[in-house]
Amino acid sequence: MSISKAASGNSSQYTIEKRLQIEHLLSPTTPSENELLAGSDVVKGLTQMPKTLPPRYFYDDRGSQLFEQICELPEYYPTRTEAAILHQRASEIARMTGPGEIVELGSGSATKTRILLDAYKALGYPLRYLPIDVSAGILESSARDLLADYPSLEVHGLVSTYELALQRLTPSQLPSRMICFLGSTLGNLSPQECDVFLSQITEAMDEGEYFLLGFDLQKSKDVLEAAYNDAQGVTAAFNLNMLHHLNRRFEGNFDATQFEHWAFYNESQHQIEMHLRSRRSHIVELRALDLTVELEAGETILTEISRKFDLNTMQQQLQARGLVPLQAWTDQNQWFGLLLCQLQPAESIAVTD
Ligand code: AVJ
Repeated sequence: MSISKAASGNSSQYTIEKRLQIEHLLSPTTPSENELLAGSDVVKGLTQMPKTLPPRYFYDDRGSQLFEQICELPEYYPTRTEAAILHQRASEIARMTGPGEIVELGSGSATKTRILLDAYKALGYPLRYLPIDVSAGILESSARDLLADYPSLEVHGLVSTYELALQRLTPSQLPSRMICFLGSTLGNLSPQECDVFLSQITEAMDEGEYFLLGFDLQKSKDVLEAAYNDAQGVTAAFNLNMLHHLNRRFEGNFDATQFEHWAFYNESQHQIEMHLRSRRSHIVELRALDLTVELEAGETILTEISRKFDLNTMQQQLQARGLVPLQAWTDQNQWFGLLLCQLQPAESIAVTD
Protein backbone atom coordinates (compact mmCIF):
# COMPACT_ATOMS: atom_id res chain seq x y z
CA MET A 1 0.00 0.00 0.00
CA SER A 2 1.20 3.47 -0.86
CA ILE A 3 0.30 4.95 2.54
CA SER A 4 2.70 2.70 4.39
CA LYS A 5 5.69 4.27 2.70
CA ALA A 6 4.55 7.84 3.25
CA ALA A 7 3.85 7.11 6.88
CA SER A 8 6.95 5.03 7.48
CA GLY A 9 8.52 7.67 9.71
CA ASN A 10 5.81 7.06 12.28
CA SER A 11 4.86 3.54 11.49
CA SER A 12 7.23 1.81 13.90
CA GLN A 13 6.03 4.10 16.70
CA TYR A 14 2.46 3.29 15.68
CA THR A 15 3.03 -0.43 15.66
CA ILE A 16 4.68 -0.20 19.07
CA GLU A 17 1.50 1.31 20.50
CA LYS A 18 -0.49 -1.42 18.79
CA ARG A 19 1.65 -4.20 20.21
CA LEU A 20 1.86 -2.77 23.74
CA GLN A 21 -0.69 -3.18 26.47
CA ILE A 22 -0.01 -2.26 30.08
CA GLU A 23 -2.45 -2.95 32.87
CA HIS A 24 -2.08 -1.22 36.23
CA LEU A 25 -3.24 -3.45 39.03
CA LEU A 26 -1.64 -1.02 41.50
CA SER A 27 -2.49 2.61 40.93
CA PRO A 28 0.46 5.02 41.39
CA THR A 29 -1.67 7.95 42.61
CA THR A 30 -4.92 6.89 44.24
CA PRO A 31 -4.36 4.59 47.18
CA SER A 32 -6.38 1.61 46.07
CA GLU A 33 -7.57 -1.15 48.31
CA ASN A 34 -4.49 -3.14 47.34
CA GLU A 35 -2.14 -0.39 48.39
CA LEU A 36 -3.79 0.01 51.75
CA LEU A 37 -3.49 -3.70 52.10
CA ALA A 38 0.13 -3.38 51.09
CA GLY A 39 0.64 -0.76 53.80
CA SER A 40 -0.55 -3.24 56.38
CA ASP A 41 2.59 -5.32 55.79
CA VAL A 42 4.69 -2.25 56.66
CA VAL A 43 2.72 -1.76 59.88
CA LYS A 44 3.10 -5.42 60.74
CA GLY A 45 6.85 -5.41 60.08
CA LEU A 46 7.59 -2.25 62.01
CA THR A 47 5.51 -3.17 65.06
CA GLN A 48 7.09 -6.57 65.58
CA MET A 49 10.40 -7.40 67.29
CA PRO A 50 12.89 -7.57 65.65
CA LYS A 51 11.59 -5.06 63.10
CA THR A 52 11.34 -6.01 59.44
CA LEU A 53 10.31 -4.40 56.14
CA PRO A 54 9.15 -6.26 53.01
CA PRO A 55 11.88 -6.32 50.33
CA ARG A 56 9.47 -5.38 47.57
CA TYR A 57 9.61 -1.78 48.84
CA PHE A 58 13.15 -1.64 47.42
CA TYR A 59 11.71 -1.38 43.94
CA ASP A 60 10.39 2.09 43.29
CA ASP A 61 11.79 3.57 40.08
CA ARG A 62 14.99 4.75 41.80
CA GLY A 63 15.41 1.40 43.56
CA SER A 64 15.00 -0.48 40.31
CA GLN A 65 17.73 1.72 38.79
CA LEU A 66 20.02 1.03 41.72
CA PHE A 67 19.37 -2.67 41.37
CA GLU A 68 20.40 -2.46 37.71
CA GLN A 69 23.66 -0.90 38.92
CA ILE A 70 24.14 -3.68 41.46
CA CYS A 71 23.87 -6.22 38.64
CA GLU A 72 26.90 -4.61 36.95
CA LEU A 73 29.10 -4.58 40.06
CA PRO A 74 32.27 -6.70 39.99
CA GLU A 75 31.35 -8.28 43.36
CA TYR A 76 27.74 -9.12 42.40
CA TYR A 77 28.16 -12.39 40.49
CA PRO A 78 24.53 -13.71 40.32
CA THR A 79 23.28 -11.66 37.36
CA ARG A 80 26.17 -12.31 35.01
CA THR A 81 26.41 -15.95 36.04
CA GLU A 82 22.72 -16.55 35.36
CA ALA A 83 22.93 -14.65 32.06
CA ALA A 84 25.86 -16.84 30.98
CA ILE A 85 23.91 -20.02 31.74
CA LEU A 86 20.90 -18.66 29.87
CA HIS A 87 23.03 -17.74 26.86
CA GLN A 88 24.39 -21.24 26.73
CA ARG A 89 21.01 -22.97 27.23
CA ALA A 90 18.36 -20.70 25.72
CA SER A 91 17.91 -22.61 22.48
CA GLU A 92 17.72 -25.89 24.40
CA ILE A 93 15.01 -24.33 26.58
CA ALA A 94 13.12 -23.03 23.54
CA ARG A 95 13.18 -26.46 21.88
CA MET A 96 11.90 -28.07 25.08
CA THR A 97 8.97 -25.67 25.57
CA GLY A 98 8.01 -25.21 21.94
CA PRO A 99 6.17 -22.03 20.94
CA GLY A 100 4.54 -20.32 23.90
CA GLU A 101 4.00 -17.15 25.86
CA ILE A 102 6.80 -15.97 28.13
CA VAL A 103 5.55 -14.67 31.47
CA GLU A 104 8.16 -13.05 33.67
CA LEU A 105 7.77 -12.25 37.36
CA GLY A 106 9.88 -9.27 38.46
CA SER A 107 10.94 -8.49 34.91
CA GLY A 108 12.90 -5.32 35.78
CA SER A 109 14.92 -4.16 32.78
CA ALA A 110 14.20 -7.47 30.97
CA THR A 111 17.85 -7.87 29.89
CA LYS A 112 17.77 -11.62 30.38
CA THR A 113 14.45 -11.86 28.60
CA ARG A 114 16.19 -10.90 25.37
CA ILE A 115 18.26 -14.06 25.55
CA LEU A 116 15.07 -16.14 25.61
CA LEU A 117 13.31 -14.03 22.97
CA ASP A 118 16.32 -14.42 20.65
CA ALA A 119 16.16 -18.19 21.02
CA TYR A 120 12.39 -18.29 20.37
CA LYS A 121 12.82 -15.99 17.40
CA ALA A 122 15.61 -18.14 15.91
CA LEU A 123 13.21 -21.09 15.93
CA GLY A 124 10.53 -19.02 14.19
CA TYR A 125 8.21 -19.01 17.21
CA PRO A 126 5.67 -16.19 17.70
CA LEU A 127 6.82 -13.79 20.40
CA ARG A 128 4.43 -12.88 23.19
CA TYR A 129 5.78 -11.53 26.45
CA LEU A 130 3.92 -10.81 29.72
CA PRO A 131 6.18 -8.91 32.13
CA ILE A 132 5.00 -8.43 35.71
CA ASP A 133 6.66 -5.80 37.87
CA VAL A 134 5.74 -3.42 40.69
CA SER A 135 7.78 -0.63 39.10
CA ALA A 136 5.64 1.01 36.39
CA GLY A 137 8.47 3.15 35.02
CA ILE A 138 10.91 0.36 34.36
CA LEU A 139 8.18 -1.96 33.10
CA GLU A 140 7.02 0.47 30.44
CA SER A 141 10.46 1.64 29.31
CA SER A 142 11.83 -1.88 29.02
CA ALA A 143 8.67 -2.98 27.16
CA ARG A 144 9.12 -0.14 24.64
CA ASP A 145 12.79 -0.99 24.13
CA LEU A 146 11.88 -4.63 23.46
CA LEU A 147 9.08 -3.70 21.04
CA ALA A 148 11.45 -1.48 19.08
CA ASP A 149 13.98 -4.31 18.78
CA TYR A 150 11.57 -7.18 18.09
CA PRO A 151 9.13 -6.10 15.35
CA SER A 152 6.79 -9.07 15.74
CA LEU A 153 6.74 -9.04 19.56
CA GLU A 154 3.54 -8.42 21.52
CA VAL A 155 3.83 -7.24 25.11
CA HIS A 156 1.11 -7.40 27.74
CA GLY A 157 2.58 -5.92 30.92
CA LEU A 158 1.10 -6.01 34.40
CA VAL A 159 2.08 -3.38 36.97
CA SER A 160 1.37 -5.58 39.93
CA THR A 161 2.54 -7.72 42.78
CA TYR A 162 3.15 -11.36 41.87
CA GLU A 163 0.19 -12.58 43.89
CA LEU A 164 -2.32 -10.34 42.13
CA ALA A 165 -0.88 -10.88 38.67
CA LEU A 166 -0.85 -14.66 39.06
CA GLN A 167 -4.53 -14.54 40.01
CA ARG A 168 -5.30 -12.46 36.94
CA LEU A 169 -3.45 -14.55 34.34
CA THR A 170 -5.80 -15.57 31.56
CA PRO A 171 -5.18 -18.77 29.56
CA SER A 172 -2.26 -18.64 27.16
CA GLN A 173 -2.97 -17.32 23.67
CA LEU A 174 -0.21 -19.58 22.29
CA PRO A 175 0.15 -23.39 22.41
CA SER A 176 2.17 -23.22 25.61
CA ARG A 177 3.44 -20.92 28.29
CA MET A 178 6.55 -20.57 30.41
CA ILE A 179 6.53 -18.63 33.67
CA CYS A 180 10.04 -17.31 34.37
CA PHE A 181 11.23 -16.42 37.83
CA LEU A 182 14.85 -15.46 37.43
CA GLY A 183 17.57 -13.68 39.37
CA SER A 184 17.07 -15.70 42.57
CA THR A 185 14.22 -13.48 43.69
CA LEU A 186 12.81 -16.66 45.25
CA GLY A 187 15.61 -16.26 47.81
CA ASN A 188 13.79 -13.26 49.29
CA LEU A 189 11.01 -15.52 50.54
CA SER A 190 11.09 -17.38 53.84
CA PRO A 191 10.47 -21.14 53.55
CA GLN A 192 6.81 -20.57 54.50
CA GLU A 193 6.37 -17.72 52.00
CA CYS A 194 8.09 -19.87 49.42
CA ASP A 195 5.47 -22.59 49.95
CA VAL A 196 2.63 -20.12 49.46
CA PHE A 197 4.31 -18.64 46.40
CA LEU A 198 4.84 -22.02 44.73
CA SER A 199 1.18 -22.86 45.32
CA GLN A 200 0.23 -19.59 43.61
CA ILE A 201 2.47 -20.53 40.71
CA THR A 202 0.98 -23.99 40.25
CA GLU A 203 -2.53 -22.55 40.66
CA ALA A 204 -1.85 -20.09 37.85
CA MET A 205 -0.42 -22.77 35.53
CA ASP A 206 -2.21 -25.17 33.27
CA GLU A 207 -1.00 -28.74 33.00
CA GLY A 208 1.92 -29.12 30.65
CA GLU A 209 3.03 -25.51 31.06
CA TYR A 210 6.58 -24.64 32.04
CA PHE A 211 8.29 -22.94 34.95
CA LEU A 212 11.83 -21.60 34.58
CA LEU A 213 13.50 -20.85 37.90
CA GLY A 214 16.89 -19.17 38.44
CA PHE A 215 18.35 -19.35 41.95
CA ASP A 216 21.58 -18.65 43.79
CA LEU A 217 23.49 -21.62 45.22
CA GLN A 218 25.35 -22.07 48.52
CA LYS A 219 29.01 -21.02 48.42
CA SER A 220 31.77 -19.50 50.56
CA LYS A 221 30.94 -16.71 53.01
CA ASP A 222 33.66 -14.49 51.49
CA VAL A 223 32.19 -14.50 48.01
CA LEU A 224 28.66 -13.98 49.37
CA GLU A 225 29.44 -11.16 51.79
CA ALA A 226 31.42 -9.24 49.16
CA ALA A 227 28.43 -9.42 46.82
CA TYR A 228 26.23 -7.62 49.38
CA ASN A 229 28.86 -5.16 50.64
CA ASP A 230 30.25 -3.72 47.42
CA ALA A 231 33.16 -1.28 47.54
CA GLN A 232 31.22 1.47 45.72
CA GLY A 233 28.37 1.42 48.22
CA VAL A 234 25.63 0.83 45.65
CA THR A 235 24.05 -1.94 47.74
CA ALA A 236 24.05 0.40 50.75
CA ALA A 237 22.29 3.09 48.68
CA PHE A 238 19.79 0.48 47.46
CA ASN A 239 19.04 -0.58 51.02
CA LEU A 240 18.67 3.02 52.28
CA ASN A 241 16.48 3.99 49.31
CA MET A 242 13.68 1.89 50.77
CA LEU A 243 13.25 4.59 53.43
CA HIS A 244 12.74 7.31 50.80
CA HIS A 245 10.23 5.08 49.05
CA LEU A 246 8.28 4.55 52.29
CA ASN A 247 8.36 8.30 53.03
CA ARG A 248 6.80 9.09 49.69
CA ARG A 249 4.31 6.29 49.70
CA PHE A 250 3.10 6.54 53.29
CA GLU A 251 3.86 10.18 54.21
CA GLY A 252 6.80 9.14 56.36
CA ASN A 253 9.67 11.10 57.85
CA PHE A 254 12.50 8.54 57.85
CA ASP A 255 15.87 10.33 57.83
CA ALA A 256 18.14 7.99 55.86
CA THR A 257 21.27 9.58 57.37
CA GLN A 258 20.17 8.11 60.72
CA PHE A 259 20.66 4.58 59.37
CA GLU A 260 23.50 2.43 58.08
CA HIS A 261 23.59 -0.56 55.76
CA TRP A 262 24.51 -3.90 57.39
CA ALA A 263 24.67 -7.22 55.49
CA PHE A 264 26.16 -10.59 56.49
CA TYR A 265 25.86 -14.30 55.65
CA ASN A 266 24.00 -16.39 58.21
CA GLU A 267 25.71 -19.73 57.55
CA SER A 268 23.36 -21.95 59.53
CA GLN A 269 20.30 -20.54 57.71
CA HIS A 270 22.13 -20.33 54.36
CA GLN A 271 20.98 -16.78 53.87
CA ILE A 272 22.32 -13.27 53.45
CA GLU A 273 20.56 -10.93 55.87
CA MET A 274 20.40 -7.27 55.00
CA HIS A 275 19.48 -4.73 57.66
CA LEU A 276 19.17 -0.98 58.24
CA ARG A 277 20.76 -0.15 61.58
CA SER A 278 19.63 2.94 63.46
CA ARG A 279 22.63 5.09 64.43
CA ARG A 280 20.83 6.56 67.44
CA SER A 281 17.61 6.37 69.38
CA HIS A 282 14.88 8.24 67.51
CA ILE A 283 11.24 8.29 66.45
CA VAL A 284 9.80 7.98 62.94
CA GLU A 285 6.26 8.58 61.78
CA LEU A 286 4.33 7.22 58.81
CA ARG A 287 1.26 9.44 58.75
CA ALA A 288 -0.67 7.62 56.04
CA LEU A 289 -0.41 4.47 58.14
CA ASP A 290 -1.08 6.27 61.41
CA LEU A 291 2.11 4.69 62.71
CA THR A 292 4.77 5.91 65.15
CA VAL A 293 7.95 3.85 65.30
CA GLU A 294 10.49 4.05 68.11
CA LEU A 295 14.03 2.95 67.37
CA GLU A 296 16.83 2.29 69.86
CA ALA A 297 20.44 3.22 69.12
CA GLY A 298 21.89 0.24 67.21
CA GLU A 299 18.50 -1.33 66.58
CA THR A 300 18.14 -3.08 63.23
CA ILE A 301 15.35 -3.41 60.69
CA LEU A 302 15.64 -6.54 58.55
CA THR A 303 14.95 -5.46 54.95
CA GLU A 304 15.88 -8.63 53.07
CA ILE A 305 16.87 -12.22 53.36
CA SER A 306 18.55 -13.69 50.31
CA ARG A 307 18.55 -17.44 50.64
CA LYS A 308 21.16 -19.63 48.98
CA PHE A 309 19.93 -23.01 47.80
CA ASP A 310 21.03 -26.57 47.08
CA LEU A 311 20.34 -27.67 43.52
CA ASN A 312 19.20 -31.22 44.37
CA THR A 313 17.00 -30.18 47.27
CA MET A 314 15.33 -27.58 45.07
CA GLN A 315 14.56 -30.18 42.41
CA GLN A 316 13.00 -32.49 45.00
CA GLN A 317 10.85 -29.71 46.43
CA LEU A 318 9.53 -28.69 43.04
CA GLN A 319 8.93 -32.30 42.02
CA ALA A 320 6.86 -32.79 45.19
CA ARG A 321 4.54 -30.00 44.00
CA GLY A 322 4.02 -31.49 40.58
CA LEU A 323 6.59 -29.19 39.00
CA VAL A 324 8.65 -31.90 37.34
CA PRO A 325 12.26 -30.85 36.70
CA LEU A 326 13.04 -31.53 33.03
CA GLN A 327 16.58 -30.21 33.17
CA ALA A 328 18.91 -28.49 35.64
CA TRP A 329 21.83 -26.33 34.55
CA THR A 330 24.63 -24.59 36.41
CA ASP A 331 27.93 -22.77 35.72
CA GLN A 332 31.51 -24.07 36.09
CA ASN A 333 31.78 -22.87 39.70
CA GLN A 334 28.31 -24.15 40.52
CA TRP A 335 27.44 -20.71 41.86
CA PHE A 336 24.02 -20.40 40.26
CA GLY A 337 21.26 -22.83 39.22
CA LEU A 338 18.67 -22.78 36.46
CA LEU A 339 15.80 -25.29 36.43
CA LEU A 340 13.18 -25.92 33.76
CA CYS A 341 10.08 -27.66 35.16
CA GLN A 342 6.81 -28.75 33.66
CA LEU A 343 3.52 -28.92 35.53
CA GLN A 344 2.49 -32.52 35.62
CA PRO A 345 -1.15 -33.38 34.98
CA ALA A 346 -2.86 -34.00 38.34
CA GLU A 347 -3.66 -37.63 37.42
CA SER A 348 -0.05 -38.55 36.65
CA ILE A 349 1.03 -37.31 40.10
CA ALA A 350 -1.24 -39.97 41.55
CA VAL A 351 0.02 -42.61 39.11
CA THR A 352 3.72 -42.16 39.96
CA ASP A 353 3.28 -43.80 43.43
C1 AVJ B 1 16.94 -9.52 43.29
C2 AVJ B 1 16.43 -10.44 45.40
C3 AVJ B 1 17.82 -11.62 43.93
O1 AVJ B 1 18.89 -11.10 46.81
O2 AVJ B 1 20.62 -10.85 45.56
C4 AVJ B 1 20.90 -7.48 45.55
C5 AVJ B 1 18.47 -8.33 45.57
N1 AVJ B 1 19.82 -7.29 47.40
N2 AVJ B 1 21.71 -6.93 46.46
C6 AVJ B 1 19.47 -10.58 45.85
C7 AVJ B 1 19.70 -7.71 46.15
C8 AVJ B 1 21.05 -6.80 47.56
C9 AVJ B 1 18.70 -9.64 44.94
N3 AVJ B 1 17.48 -10.29 44.41
